[in-house]
Amino acid sequence: MSEIVIRKMDMSDVPYVYKEELKIFGKSLGEATLYHEVLHNKLSKYFIALVDGKKAGYVGSWLTIPNAEILNLFVSEDYRGNNIGTMLMNKVIRVCEEEKIELLTLEVRPSNKYAITMYEELGFELSHRRKNYYKNNEDALLMVLKIEVIA
Ligand SMILES: CC(C)(COP(=O)(O)OP(=O)(O)OC[C@H]1O[C@@H](n2cnc3c(N)ncnc32)[C@H](O)[C@@H]1OP(=O)(O)O)[C@@H](O)C(=O)NCCC(=O)NCCS
Repeated sequence: MSEIVIRKMDMSDVPYVYKEELKIFGKSLGEATLYHEVLHNKLSKYFIALVDGKKAGYVGSWLTIPNAEILNLFVSEDYRGNNIGTMLMNKVIRVCEEEKIELLTLEVRPSNKYAITMYEELGFELSHRRKNYYKNNEDALLMVLKIEVIA
């Protein structure tokens, strides 16, 4: 059985994230921004999934208390359908609980049915639609998760 580990992203992960973002989305935050996020941005919470020590996915988020935002999420193609996306999202949700975040938001393309299903299973709800949000004029769905604040 494979061992799946979720850990903080560090500098050594930047080339992997950059390459995969380009492959999967056709664009990336860019290596310089990714280095900055990992090294200097105190609001950033970035995590990497490892399967038997191999990089398999990533999630990037910003904690702008009392809210937080998912910036990006992917699971490398060979590893999809193994709960890794859910685990990465759960890691961010746990950090939000610890930091007393009240609302976690994200944007997703209406055509991205897998991602939408996953977000709904995690408890996200549709907030509203942002018209012509993406470069190809596709709308974005803004989804929100209300976080239970632990006393
Ligand atoms: C969306 C993504 C992150 C999901 O990651 P994943 O590790 O494959 O997802 P999980 O295994 O945790 O699956 C969660 C749910 O998503 C849905 N899902 C995932 N893969 C699926 C597939 N191949 N077929 C149908 N449903 C699927 C299912 O509802 C699944 O829940 P279930 O296991 O209870 O059926 C991944 O597909 C991906 O990287 N896609 C490209 C990048 C992207 O779209 N990122 C999100 C941008 S908003």
